[in-house]
Amino acid sequence: MQAVKILVKEHEVMLEMLDNLAAARNMLEKGKQPPKEFFEKAVAFARDFADKFHHFKEEYLLFGLLAQKKDGALDAEIGVLRYEHERGRTFINNITGSIEGYADGDEIAAARLLENIAAYISIFKRHIYSENQVFFKLAEQELSDNEDKILMVQFQKDEERIADRDFFSHSRKLVGEMSKLIDK
Ligand SMILES: [Fe+2]
Ligand SMILES: [Fe+2]
Repeated sequence: MQAVKILVKEHEVMLEMLDNLAAARNMLEKGKQPPKEFFEKAVAFARDFADKFHHFKEEYLLFGLLAQKKDGALDAEIGVLRYEHERGRTFINNITGSIEGYADGDEIAAARLLENIAAYISIFKRHIYSENQVFFKLAEQELSDNEDKILMVQFQKDEERIADRDFFSHSRKLVGEMSKLIDK
């Protein structure tokens, strides 16, 4: 199913970003200080790529279509995935709010940064795993080829509306820049 393939490919970039974030978390745990720019790039990626570009496709298009088709039978599963997206947004807002203080040497801000990064990594590792291994497999069973085509048209339309044409490669580059900032 093409639509699922696209989402899985986006997950690969998101997992690379989570690996960078985990390396930064390990540094923070040992009292080292990744540069402020690293976290600014992490926030930009989480907001623009993970949230606007990727979660939008899932929440409004794939989940929407499946919920309609299964008439409420998948509400619990979809509810968890939406909840995790929402928690991710909260963690990213908290990270954003602690970057300046962290850069100024505020220890409470550094603790808050670490706490929210750890939570973000943890929730999205689980989230991506369960989408790839469970939810997307279910979607592939439930949706017809025609529905896949409809989703692909909608994905394309929304991508054009949300981002410019090179957005995927720009986002991938951003993840590469993050790893350079922490010598990973
Ligand atoms: Fe998701
Ligand atoms: Fe996802």
